[in-house]
Amino acid sequence: MALKLSVIGTGYLGATHAACMSSLGFEVIGFDTEVSKIELLSKGKVPFYEPGLEELLSEQIRSGRLSFTTNINDLADCDVHFICVGTPQVKGGNAADLTYVNSALESIAKLVKAGGLVVGKSTVPVGTATRLRSKLIELNPKADLAWNPEFLREGFAVEDTLKPNRLVVGVVSDSAEKILKEVYASNLKENTPWVRADLPTSELVKVAANSFLATKISFINAMAEICEAADGDVTVLAKAIGYDPRIGSRFLQAGIGFGGGCLPKDIRAFMARAEELGAKQAVEFLKEIDAINLRARQRIIELVRKDLSDNLQGKKVAILGAAFKPDSDDVRDSPALDIAVQIQAAGAIVTVHDPKAITNAQKRFPVLNFSTEINDTLKDAEIVLHLTEWKIYRDIDPVKVKSLVKNAIMIDGRNALDRQLWRSAGWKFRALGRSNNE
Ligand code: UDX
Repeated sequence: MALKLSVIGTGYLGATHAACMSSLGFEVIGFDTEVSKIELLSKGKVPFYEPGLEELLSEQIRSGRLSFTTNINDLADCDVHFICVGTPQVKGGNAADLTYVNSALESIAKLVKAGGLVVGKSTVPVGTATRLRSKLIELNPKADLAWNPEFLREGFAVEDTLKPNRLVVGVVSDSAEKILKEVYASNLKENTPWVRADLPTSELVKVAANSFLATKISFINAMAEICEAADGDVTVLAKAIGYDPRIGSRFLQAGIGFGGGCLPKDIRAFMARAEELGAKQAVEFLKEIDAINLRARQRIIELVRKDLSDNLQGKKVAILGAAFKPDSDDVRDSPALDIAVQIQAAGAIVTVHDPKAITNAQKRFPVLNFSTEINDTLKDAEIVLHLTEWKIYRDIDPVKVKSLVKNAIMIDGRNALDRQLWRSAGWKFRALGRSNNE
């Protein structure tokens, strides 16, 4: 008989995991304590923007295999329980807040069937899985716990879940691995690399991967600072070093840096945990990675001041992009919004455009002006900032929009626009890490 799965926590990770597992033929029940979220999901609606997810979710609900509940007791007949709750940064500190993970474990522990498996997918500080496993066995000696980190990217969540580039399973017992091999049988058939690890290593794989990615981005942004000082071009430099297969060209896009719900908080939580473990020095470089990342935001503001005026009071600034990256409506730690807020705080009149993230951005920063029309956003602007590289912004015709703005100055914070095109349309074009001489 096919395994029956539960997914505890239905955010980006959980909602996607539930829909994808159902699409593989499993019966899946998703649980969340937030009633409004479960109501929406039950109707086949996704409470956030993720390409392809809503279609998959509604199709799976119609198939009868996928359902959602706010009653934890409905999970009692499941064989495997995936914990997919959030682990945000604690208020006033760097560590991860484990409140949701702890309460998920406690609420499911006694309901797990004999031989059932709890599988953590949330990103947690190393040591958490071992602690949770002890707690689970204390409450329910016939249950087991494994850790199975998730590497999905927002914007590609469905694809990354169905076709992961590797599966990492932290297990103590062979029986736990056997159950997970049953869950991921279709991936194994397609030869997806399978890495069996102990619990701490499986937790570390996730934070190590995210730290590496953050380091790669901050490395290229540090090179951008040098290029600016030396009149070089970071986009050419990135292309050239990227041809070396040991380096690789991905994640070398210089600009205003990383944000979102994972990289910033994960590197901070890693530093906090390393310190607790007495291994602070080993990851102290991440402090610099964080600092380079945050500095990129200041460098953009400096460019604005240089091109407009030191005093931004009353200046009209148009900002293209609010999401932390394209194809997402997520504004958590969004570099674009942070820059918008800082420029507004300096006295400028800022209007922000985004194709998907305005509702979320407005909730977080109601003081900013928002527009759903690119042309309205650009109208009378004294400077334009391109801060999230949505495709629609690359499709803007610089000749057509020039008549809308007061000053034709474009600052490309993502190195994604065609400089030649904008310059030949008569725009002053500025970017991070490139010579800003005309
Ligand atoms: C990340 C990891 O990629 C994923 O494996 C993990 O599970 C969760 O965290 P995500 O937060 O969705 O995924 O975004 P990602 O695509 O990694 O981008 C993170 C940030 O880095 C974005 O703000 C993006 O704009 C920025 N970035 C990315 C750059 O500034 N330059 C690059 O070259 C790449």
